[in-house]
Amino acid sequence: ILVEDPCYLAALQCFQLAGAVPVPIPCDDDGLDPEALDRLVEEHQPKLLYTVPTFHNPTGRTLPEERRAALARVIERRGLWTI
Ligand SMILES: Cc1ncc(COP(=O)(O)O)c(C=O)c1O
Repeated sequence: ILVEDPCYLAALQCFQLAGAVPVPIPCDDDGLDPEALDRLVEEHQPKLLYTVPTFHNPTGRTLPEERRAALARVIERRGLWTI
């Protein structure tokens, strides 16, 4: 599964207990990098993406509208399951 870097620790622990292999996606001040997301979907063929777009833990970051739209376009085009 694809996760933010850094990622909410308890979620990471749950995913690992279930046998999932977390792949970190680079983030900047606006959140997940849409180009990196696209590239890592291609590279890893993940089952899903886990992301916290509003008041992210541990950064407290909330994604701006533009970044959300860019990520949504990648997610839709790739048919990526997203939590
Ligand atoms: C992103 C995220 N998900 C889940 C939880 C856990 O929430 P709850 O205590 O309601 O189970 C937290 C708590 O900090 C969180 O930051």
